[in-house]
Amino acid sequence: MRTPLIAGNWKMNKTASEAATFARELVQRTITSPAIEIVIAPPFTALDSVRHALGTSSSIGLAGQNLHWEDRGAYTGEVSAPMLKDLGCQYVILGHSERRALFGERDDVIQKKLAAAFRHGLKPILCVGESLGEREAGRTTEIIAGQLKGSLAGFTATQLAMLTIAYEPVWAIGTGKAASPEQAISVHQTIRQFLQREWSAALAQGTRILYGGSVTPQNASSFLASDEIDGALVGGACLQTESFASIADLAQKRTGH
Ligand code: 13P
Repeated sequence: MRTPLIAGNWKMNKTASEAATFARELVQRTITSPAIEIVIAPPFTALDSVRHALGTSSSIGLAGQNLHWEDRGAYTGEVSAPMLKDLGCQYVILGHSERRALFGERDDVIQKKLAAAFRHGLKPILCVGESLGEREAGRTTEIIAGQLKGSLAGFTATQLAMLTIAYEPVWAIGTGKAASPEQAISVHQTIRQFLQREWSAALAQGTRILYGGSVTPQNASSFLASDEIDGALVGGACLQTESFASIADLAQKRTGH
């Protein structure tokens, strides 16, 4: 069985001091259990303070929001996989639509970043998603398959066993207009079919696929009710303790724990 994952992408929000206060509140408020995983992705500058605020006993995991594909070198402003590992990250978000749209990340670059994550034992959360124009033109499946093909090229099923995929339709991110559960389920099925065709049924069945895009405590249950949706990648609603913890509570309830 796939363990549900609720991940919070803080994007460029909270200073290191704000983040530490928030993380302490989150530990107080969150009921953790082995039935689900909870991961937060603060900005790089806050990873260290959040790690200390979470403490050693917290089971809330840490993720980077991006990384550079090389381990070190003359790459001003960049952060590498070993640097994230050293700060206690177990996960890294890669290929977010904001990275693609605002920073020109293409699938071949995302492929190199995935390779760096695998090399260093960081579990990637790979984001894929179509724009509104692409959906309206009936190109959703083609776009998602293209993103998967380009970014997952050359990896073995063993490497991909570390992968989580997040389906984040661009038109649903930060707009308050979430996809319907039916739309999300249909794309999740497309992703599983792609993994089965290109790798194996075991990989397709074992890979966690999250939904992201305007997930709130109000709509989270409708996504989490489906066996096809293995959790959520939450943006805006992860910036308040209560809303993020409520979404985690809902995921926990679904597991019956
Ligand atoms: P929102 O939840 O704010 O729509 O953001 C989703 C997202 O981009 C998470 O990575």
